[in-house]
Amino acid sequence: MDLLVLEKSLIGVFLAIVIATVISKLRGKKFRLPPGPIPVPVFGNWLQIGDDLNHRNLSDYAQKFGDIFMLRMGQRNLVVVSSPESAKKVLHTQGVEFGSRTRNVVFDIFTGKGQDMVFTVYGEHWRKMRRIMTVPFFTNKVVQQYRHDWEAEAAAVVEDVKKNPEAATNGIVLRRRLQLMMYNNMFRILFDRRFESEEDPLFVKLKALNGERSRLAQSFEYNYGDFIPILRPFLRGYLKICKEVKDRRLQLFKDYFVDERKKLAATEPLNNEGLKCAIDHILEAQQKGEINEDNVLYIVENINVAAIETTLWSIEWGIAELVNHPEIQKKLRNELDSVLGPGVPITEPDAHKLAYLQAVIKETLRLRMAIPLLVPHMNLQDAKLNGYDIPAESKILVNAWWLANNPANWKKPEEFRPERFLEEERKVEANGNDFRYLPFGVGRRSCPGIILALPILGIILGRLVQNFEMLPPPGQSKLDTTEKGGQFSLHILKHSTIVMKPRSF
Ligand code: HEM
Repeated sequence: MDLLVLEKSLIGVFLAIVIATVISKLRGKKFRLPPGPIPVPVFGNWLQIGDDLNHRNLSDYAQKFGDIFMLRMGQRNLVVVSSPESAKKVLHTQGVEFGSRTRNVVFDIFTGKGQDMVFTVYGEHWRKMRRIMTVPFFTNKVVQQYRHDWEAEAAAVVEDVKKNPEAATNGIVLRRRLQLMMYNNMFRILFDRRFESEEDPLFVKLKALNGERSRLAQSFEYNYGDFIPILRPFLRGYLKICKEVKDRRLQLFKDYFVDERKKLAATEPLNNEGLKCAIDHILEAQQKGEINEDNVLYIVENINVAAIETTLWSIEWGIAELVNHPEIQKKLRNELDSVLGPGVPITEPDAHKLAYLQAVIKETLRLRMAIPLLVPHMNLQDAKLNGYDIPAESKILVNAWWLANNPANWKKPEEFRPERFLEEERKVEANGNDFRYLPFGVGRRSCPGIILALPILGIILGRLVQNFEMLPPPGQSKLDTTEKGGQFSLHILKHSTIVMKPRSF
């Protein structure tokens, strides 16, 4: 036992010396690192900073250390970028240098070490995956092909809520029904499939596995093993669970969706271009030898995470803000009634005519950004940023939430006030035309799903406000909007119960 302690202490001292030497070299004449708290050997800044690197904590550090600062989390360098000017350099001017992604031990498992698109480094594989995914997912043709389905899914939500007697009295957890809607919206595009109800066993299984994947990946629980490799053996149990979830999930995608579609295509050849769904395009790329079967499954994996959850969180935030700001909800309803006529259901082309609806969506994405730190970027090689040296393979977090919530750049940013996007910020769009507002990022690694997310948000928020007065549950004056942040995600902590009082026309 004593020998073991001695052995561990010796290893600790040895590591401390090695790391102190490396740091002093890095901080020496050759390197001019960004400012930040002084790291200690082995742990770096981890013990001072803790695990929760959420957007608010990082905004506080930015005010202390400046708009580019560096944290050493054990062995990992973390560079946080917090001004529009520096964000422009990282995402645009030096977009190639900073266009890769870091993965940690857990993301390595879930993405097969970057065989997907979202977490792969900037290079040939990424370019190919992005090209292959563009036609089936990210064009206006896709929006026009599927918008009627999204409208039908939103109508089904309205009908189901109206049928539920609890909805108008004690309230319901609306999110559960919206989750089914989002799965249906995306699974129609992916596989031309939908789930009949929240109880559909396949939907229940899929939702559980996706939920588990998100929880395991976004948790801070595994930071210690990621930051300090010598502690990694203690993560063995956690990583084993990740691997099991990953295997079960990919198997489910393959058995119940990809293979099913292949069987269908074999019996009814899909020669009509219009009938093709996304997986047909992806499988074609596989047949041509451009990608392999694993890549196909990782594309399905990416869409399940990147598309469904982010959009669902944003819908949920939008509803919570509308419930907590009844005057804004009323103003939006008046706009819908006056532009479309009372009871005329909003469709995708209508959304463009509804300036206040657009402003509500933008304000939701500003204050409640689903991915407030973007998906972490990375530089493969040593790089320079604003005169600082950024060591190769640093994790680069762009604090997009702070860019959009810094009182130096926005009028009363803590207020939920859609009017700002019709007044002083009327020129600002969600597509990254202003580096203070990047809910979808900008540049090479920006979100290609914006083209789908915005219309889906418009259709569902519009239909809900048209059909219901949305209120907090009895005895509550406001919904609890406590945030829950993860490695780079942000959602509402408690899925709210909402009273849905149907309107009569
Ligand atoms: C409101 C909903 C959404 C938000 C707020 C959002 C936000 C983001 C953000 C911030 C990024 C990272 C940008 C960067 O690192 O610079 C991203 C990446 C990505 N998003 Fe979205 N997204 C949403 C919906 C979607 C949808 C619907 C899809 C697909 C149908 C999608 C697919 C992707 C993909 C594939 C990437 C990775 C791009 C790359 O690495 O090249 N997203 N998203």
